[in-house]
Amino acid sequence: MTVPTISTEDLRELLERGTPLTVLDVRPAAERAEWSIPGSVHADAYEALRRADPTALADFHPTNGDRVVTVCAAGKTSRLAAERLRARGLDAVSLEGGMRAWSLAWNSAEVPCPGSTARIVQLRRAGKGCLSYLIGSNGAAVVIDASLDPQVYHRVADTHGWRIRTALETHVHADHLSRARALAADTGARLCLPATDRVSFEYEPLNDGDTVRVGSSALRVLRTPGHTPESTCYLLDDRALFTGDTLFLAAVGRPDLEATTEQSESRAHVLYASLQRLVALPPDTVILPAHTSEPVAFDGRPISATLRQVRARTLLLRETEERFVSQILTRLPPTPPNHHRIVALNEAGTLPDDPTELEAGANRCAVA
Ligand SMILES: [Fe+2]
Repeated sequence: MTVPTISTEDLRELLERGTPLTVLDVRPAAERAEWSIPGSVHADAYEALRRADPTALADFHPTNGDRVVTVCAAGKTSRLAAERLRARGLDAVSLEGGMRAWSLAWNSAEVPCPGSTARIVQLRRAGKGCLSYLIGSNGAAVVIDASLDPQVYHRVADTHGWRIRTALETHVHADHLSRARALAADTGARLCLPATDRVSFEYEPLNDGDTVRVGSSALRVLRTPGHTPESTCYLLDDRALFTGDTLFLAAVGRPDLEATTEQSESRAHVLYASLQRLVALPPDTVILPAHTSEPVAFDGRPISATLRQVRARTLLLRETEERFVSQILTRLPPTPPNHHRIVALNEAGTLPDDPTELEAGANRCAVA
């Protein structure tokens, strides 16, 4: 039987429109625990489907409308699941490429920013947790930390009547492949990075105190080393702070990627000083990080908090320097998969034909 499939982009659009459907995840529970599609249901049927057990999914019933989209890691076992459900007369299709392909799914949310004339759109890789930003003012736009196909930013900018003038990065990323260089090449935008000798392509270097204009608004460059030596935050109109992986909504950046034990410790001290600088900003500053550790719902709600809220939630921000350093170094999560190869590609400014193979899995840049 030929099993119909649905692409990541088509499923993404259905979820964004709120179309009733049940997403059925048939992966083993341990794989699902790492990352899943928001709102999906789980049936631990992987082994049973692989061995053609006739009872596999026999007691599954759709929970939202009639349509079912089956999902596994790479789109093979989910076909068996869809086939099984179709034999029962259900309208089931299989997600093409599985969770690996789903890592490119995205949605968006507008971020209110009182006091700034600019508008901020948060673009989220729902299937991976990477957050990027399109900031528009007076027909011009800046993109921060592009992690999606350049066409996505182009399309969203178009709907607002903005032209992308600048592509900015907060740092050399380790858990996704940067699309900033490709975006700049596609749109003719300037490519601006924190000044660093890590990358081997041409860019416009940014230093502490510099300003990047976007229409009638401005982004101020705050160098905040620690997560990486070049890590930088951008402050929009003194109201919203794009923090990259330096500060999250309830966690701080990890200081150990591509670093020896001694380097990690010295970076942790530097990170402490950078964070002290950030927490001294006005408490109503809107914090907009580059990652979230949860799958992103298709709910149009921005992932953001005020600095006041972030301070209240993040215990590490209240530690002394010595305790901050010792705590952060003992709580490091496992390193992101493939991070050496991802960093090497980001330093070279190149993209492989199929980025999803390297980018599979959750992001891991935070320490809570
Ligand atoms: Fe990072």
